[in-house]
Amino acid sequence: MTVLKEEAKQTIAAHGGKLVNRELKGGAEREKAIERAQDYPSLTINKWGGVSDLELISIGGFSPLTGFLGENDYLEVVDNLHLADGTVWSIPITLAVTEEEVDKLTIGKPVALYGEDGVLYGILDLEEAYRYDKKKEAQNVYGTTDDSHPGVKKLYEKGDIYLAGPIHLVNRPEHEGFEDFYLDPIETRQLFQDLGWKTVVGFQTRNPVHRAHEYIQKCALESVDGLLLNPLVGETKADDIPADIRMESYQAILKHYYPKNRTRLVIYPAAMRYAGPREAILHATVRKNYGCTHFIVGRDHAGVGDFYGTYEAQELIAQYEEELGIHIFKFEHAFFCTKCENMATQKTCPHNKEDHVHLSGTKVREKLRNGEPLPRQFSRPEVAEILIKGLQRGAKA
Ligand code: ADX
Repeated sequence: MTVLKEEAKQTIAAHGGKLVNRELKGGAEREKAIERAQDYPSLTINKWGGVSDLELISIGGFSPLTGFLGENDYLEVVDNLHLADGTVWSIPITLAVTEEEVDKLTIGKPVALYGEDGVLYGILDLEEAYRYDKKKEAQNVYGTTDDSHPGVKKLYEKGDIYLAGPIHLVNRPEHEGFEDFYLDPIETRQLFQDLGWKTVVGFQTRNPVHRAHEYIQKCALESVDGLLLNPLVGETKADDIPADIRMESYQAILKHYYPKNRTRLVIYPAAMRYAGPREAILHATVRKNYGCTHFIVGRDHAGVGDFYGTYEAQELIAQYEEELGIHIFKFEHAFFCTKCENMATQKTCPHNKEDHVHLSGTKVREKLRNGEPLPRQFSRPEVAEILIKGLQRGAKA
């Protein structure tokens, strides 16, 4: 296990004060836990959502959580964006099951958590099972009860009962193809210390890095020591660009356009919830746990369709920034201006909309799928080329 040097501990405290570690690693304790688990009632949890939440709790990404939320914490999070002890927390991290599944479990007894691949991932010390109000969760967390919202749709499809209690991870989910870019929060903290970075900006993305992303990252990088490019590689909408293709594009853009000693690429192994403002707060909280001192929130962060206003995420997170204890870099909508001949926002460019290069996500995907290059003002050619090739490969497979 990585032992964090004294200085790294001091850069930024984990959320709630202490970096959580719920993984049983190697040794007799783990062996015994696996053996005992064979006699426990079992549940199958899905890969993304269930397994990835389990993983993020156990590696400390979701510190201070040590398990799935109990009812008191859950209600406080849904109603007031805090845990019952007053720590700010924006998205309920829960484990949903059906009536039939809960019938074979006993409160106070452990439950073995298996993935759909038959691997035993974790053990839940079952403390509570409670019903919850899906409409209320949808309205408060996602800001809508409309099931055309992908996060709300998932919520409506889940079982009606939440299980709660502390967890332990006994086997790590595999991150095939991404192993070189997988680090635990304790390891990124160590990495930043080794690199001599006292201030680090975290960047969340579920898309390829286009010029607007690059611009806001580099604006931030002017003020801090390092950039953690931290793309989410868990489940996303079917029409988002697949993570393996994106990873290839991130490596290319870093190689060609970023200073090597000031950037690192590490994956964020979570599922996308598309909860806009509330998810922006979760994203910042997790990056704080990874050791970032700063976090970027641009236009419509973690949004989908027209469900959120362009700057709603910035407005909400601003209310909690002090409590969160991580500095938020807020950026307006960025674009290339053909008159300025550079990237800009309304704050720095006096020209009209007609002078700005704008492409919608749908248009970009359409062009890429047709093998058409993207304008250089929108995407670096090295990135567009990888995306075109990757999507064509995917279409053939
Ligand atoms: S997200 O769902 O992960 O937020 P995306 O990958 O598009 O989506 O965005 C990553 C980050 O870049 C978010 O903070 C988002 O607000 C910001 N962002 C994306 N596009 C722009 C843009 N054109 N101008 C300013 N910020 C942007």
